[in-house]
Amino acid sequence: MLTDKFKRKIDYLRVSVTDRCDLRCTYCMAEDVTFLPRQEVLSIEEIIKLIDIFNELGVRKFRLTGGEPLVRKNIITIIEYLFELKKQNKITEHTITTNGTNLSKYAKILKDNGINRINVSLDSLDSDKYKEVTKHGDLNKVLSGIYTAKSEGIKVKINTVLTQNFNEEEVFDIINWCQDHKFDISLIEVMPIGSIGEKRFNQYLSMKKFEEKLITKLKLTSSSFRTNGPSRYFEDDKSDTKIGIISAISHNFCDTCNRIRLTCTGKLFMCLGQNDYVDLKYALRNLSKIDIIEQIEYAMSIKPKKHNFEILENNFDGYINRHMNETGG
Ligand code: GTP
Ligand code: 5AD
Ligand code: SF4
Repeated sequence: MLTDKFKRKIDYLRVSVTDRCDLRCTYCMAEDVTFLPRQEVLSIEEIIKLIDIFNELGVRKFRLTGGEPLVRKNIITIIEYLFELKKQNKITEHTITTNGTNLSKYAKILKDNGINRINVSLDSLDSDKYKEVTKHGDLNKVLSGIYTAKSEGIKVKINTVLTQNFNEEEVFDIINWCQDHKFDISLIEVMPIGSIGEKRFNQYLSMKKFEEKLITKLKLTSSSFRTNGPSRYFEDDKSDTKIGIISAISHNFCDTCNRIRLTCTGKLFMCLGQNDYVDLKYALRNLSKIDIIEQIEYAMSIKPKKHNFEILENNFDGYINRHMNETGG
């Protein structure tokens, strides 16, 4: 079992399979982003080799992320592989966080490969606002993907990033829609990851105040429900929908961190909110499995206690020198 120096057990790996994405969410990346040259990106076989090693070291939960994981060619090969590990009881969960644009095409394939729940990003139910936040996304395409996933029997959780003067009022309609469709939802506070061409301060909506308003308005109570992630859940007595809150800045959850992240170039990030990483690609391509394991063990020894996120009024670029699409959140 992987354990860090603060005695936290690490059994959850988030694997970013591509930095590419067909959307350009305003809080995630700049519109004129340059994606990585393909030769820098690990092959599907290399990703599977690393998944195997992490699994041998005790990782039991795998989440595929991006960019947008469903734009990666042959992504299904990884999902099929994870399903095999699940059937052999070597892992407990494999799942995906997606923007939903390709879900109509993939929902059945995901379900057939043992994916029982997925998280889908959706920040507005108004097609113009959706286009605005994603730069060119087609809301109807995403909604029909979500409904296809539901009809396939996949449990859908909606991820809604709350941003100032954008969806702080509409979020109540989004929650209503989730309740109608029996989707859970996580409301996410913006994190200052990478420079996006505008000040984070102008996007940031603190969950602290918002949470009070949400709980009072919807008469919510705290729920004991937990996933592998950082959401704290609330519920009401009328619906099955769990409403999660992910507030990395206003309510730090690093004490219970159980996860690390692998990028599509083989960098292992020990914390979403720090810049340090261990590069596994060289060892993967040139050295032995023992060397890779040594590097992973070293990574555990330097996993930081917590993130250093800060959103300051006059700060443009923030402390994290990469974008969210590199690590997939
Ligand atoms: P489940 O709880 O398993 O449903 O998933 P999750 O919420 O952990 O995963 P998802 O990919 O849907 O991520 C939702 C949000 O949580 C994203 O904004 C992630 O960046 C954020 N998140 C996940 N893990 C961490 C973490 O360790 N630290 C911080 N700061 N944010 C995280
Ligand atoms: N802060 C918070 N959440 C973000 N996401 C992307 N960028 C950010 C950010 N800067 C969310 C996406 C997706 C999840 C993986 O992370 O909306 O649902
Ligand atoms: Fe793409 Fe997800 Fe980033 Fe939006 S948040 S641009 S969907 S990677």
